[in-house]
Amino acid sequence: MSKVTVVGAGNVGATCANVLAFNEVADQVVILDVKEGVSEGKAMDMMQTAQLLGFDSTVVGCTNDYAQTADSDVVIITSGIPRKPGMTREELISVNAGIVKSVAENLLKYSPNAVIVVISNPMDTMTYLALKSLGVPKNRIIGMGGALDSSRFKYNLTEALGCNANDVEGMVIGGHGDTTMIPLARLATYKGIPVTNLLSAEKIEEVVKATMVGGATLTGLLGTSAWYAPGAAGALVAEAIIHDQKKMIPCSVALEGEYGQNDICIGVPVVLGKNGIEKIVELELNDAEKELFAKSADAVRATNDVLKEINVL
Ligand code: LAC
Repeated sequence: MSKVTVVGAGNVGATCANVLAFNEVADQVVILDVKEGVSEGKAMDMMQTAQLLGFDSTVVGCTNDYAQTADSDVVIITSGIPRKPGMTREELISVNAGIVKSVAENLLKYSPNAVIVVISNPMDTMTYLALKSLGVPKNRIIGMGGALDSSRFKYNLTEALGCNANDVEGMVIGGHGDTTMIPLARLATYKGIPVTNLLSAEKIEEVVKATMVGGATLTGLLGTSAWYAPGAAGALVAEAIIHDQKKMIPCSVALEGEYGQNDICIGVPVVLGKNGIEKIVELELNDAEKELFAKSADAVRATNDVLKEINVL
């Protein structure tokens, strides 16, 4: 039996669980939250869509009962507070670090072999915290930011090109922050045609900028951070792992020399399969992209340093 646990029954966690169930990614989806009754209620609500939507997965909710998460293949951590308009993801660190660490420790007690997918912000730093504090092999610790940012990049490209959403390819690497993301316009294509042949430099610049502040734009509109795309991005990553799809998806992963970086989790393309990260794909970046990547890594590292200042690492 395949099993995925989603911790956090807020907007992102519930959306993620819903996508996992609707797409029958796993036989069982467990939602766990600290708020009494909320996971149970959302799981029941989702199960009442099973015959409407025609899916066979089972969704179970529980309040802080980690025993129910036992033997999960993948665990997805969405716990913590979301950002409010005007806040950066980095400002969430002092609250979210302690929560993410204790949630991950509890999950591992019951699912020692699970692949851990981190959604909580600041995502690269929360992924690094999991890497440094849990003693789990690096192939089993994955931050989903690049999957989300790439989908926003593709959306913005689709809007600029006026084309079908599924005809565009593109990746975002670097940190999952408003100033650290690197949408790789040079490598983006519309049905194999470089978008740089189809859009003006100004239009591409607009798309890149809109992508980088994509989360902040939604936070401004919604009053809290987004959930449909973040939840679906978490589910996409889990699906690639559970179904051993060997899909290439940009994710935040531990680098040991790749891209000239060490001791950091940051977004790069990886191949995902049953072992989690099956392979880190090293793109040939040009000098400008290399410089952006190094700067992005410096910024992520500065946020990681806060983990020591607040005594979480
Ligand atoms: C976002 C949050 C989830 O980018 O980081 O919407």
